[in-house]
Amino acid sequence: MPRLLIVYNSTTGNTKAMADAIAEGARSLKLDTEVVDAFNVTPEDVMAADAIGFGVPTFNYHAAKPILKLLDDLAGKNVTDKLAIVFGSYGWSGQGAPVVAERLRQMGFRVLDPVIRVKYRPTENELDGCQLLGKDVAMHLKNIRMTENLNA
Ligand SMILES: Cc1cc2nc3c(=O)[nH]c(=O)nc-3n(C[C@H](O)[C@H](O)[C@H](O)COP(=O)(O)O)c2cc1C
Repeated sequence: MPRLLIVYNSTTGNTKAMADAIAEGARSLKLDTEVVDAFNVTPEDVMAADAIGFGVPTFNYHAAKPILKLLDDLAGKNVTDKLAIVFGSYGWSGQGAPVVAERLRQMGFRVLDPVIRVKYRPTENELDGCQLLGKDVAMHLKNIRMTENLNA
């Protein structure tokens, strides 16, 4: 059964709220989904999942450090075509999530659009958007599985 791992960093809970909403959307389509603080995730955990969500707030004009460290630790692993989504809260400049999305693409991940950014605490509407992204990942994973079965 395919599995989605959502890794986040969140100091005041804003990016975590987005992660939880994405998980809710994915689980509503019966996708096995786990939400984990980046401090508790290893590169092996990332490699073992079928799709990864990266929750990336912006601090001091950079992506959150625990996420950048995880990406550094993934260097040299074969992530070709592994499905990923990227999201995060920000306050004014907001480059954290898009910078991470670009880096993931360069590493070989297949990053789904949209990369969702939310200013500070997500509104109900924004959380609905996060839920839709979670559903989208679930549908992509199911399509990949169906194609693999056709080709088997
Ligand atoms: C010390 C500090 C530095 C920050 N630097 C930036 C920044 O450079 N650009 C930006 O867009 N937001 C910045 N922010 C705002 C955070 O991205 C924003 O508060 C966000 O909601 C935090 O998300 P979290 O609760 O998931 O950690 C900063 C916040 C703090 C506390």
